[in-house]
Amino acid sequence: MPSSVPASRDSSPSGEPPAEGLTIRFVLNGRPVEARVEPHRTLLWVLREVFDLVGAKEGCGVGECGACTVLLDGEAVNACLVLAGKVDGREVTTVEGLGGPEALHPLQQWFIRKHAVQCGYCTPGMLLSAAALLRRNPDPTREEIREALAGNLCRCTGYVQIVEAVRAAAREMAGR
Ligand code: FES
Ligand code: FES
Repeated sequence: MPSSVPASRDSSPSGEPPAEGLTIRFVLNGRPVEARVEPHRTLLWVLREVFDLVGAKEGCGVGECGACTVLLDGEAVNACLVLAGKVDGREVTTVEGLGGPEALHPLQQWFIRKHAVQCGYCTPGMLLSAAALLRRNPDPTREEIREALAGNLCRCTGYVQIVEAVRAAAREMAGR
């Protein structure tokens, strides 16, 4: 996932590269990509507007809600706060790269099974924060999961089902 990510795009709706711009090259969901963007653009804008990857959401736009969370070199970051130029030469993973309908990641499967998704707006960010946690701590306690997800706000489910889903996914991934 995804097979549809283009290898090279630019930020202009007309298809013309921006006159004032920089070229960034990075690995997006496992594939090398390139884009020419204006220097003030954020990673979130590049993902959504240049590469049509709309899993990362814009909630607050100022680093408060976590809806835009993606992985940058395996660490969870708020894509609304990362300038596009900062991802040059690095690796970005969005929810589209975590898993897809034909091969859901265990976290995605357990979010469904534990009813941790309602409107789904916060879900991509939750999943990527959880993925970053399990990468550095494969056996987190409830408290550690809560801490890792503290920057991701959910208006729908409450957090009990989300924490349970992360614990269940961790158990499955560890073969416990
Ligand atoms: S949109 Fe990035 S933290 Fe809210
Ligand atoms: S499921 Fe709706 S905001 Fe979390």
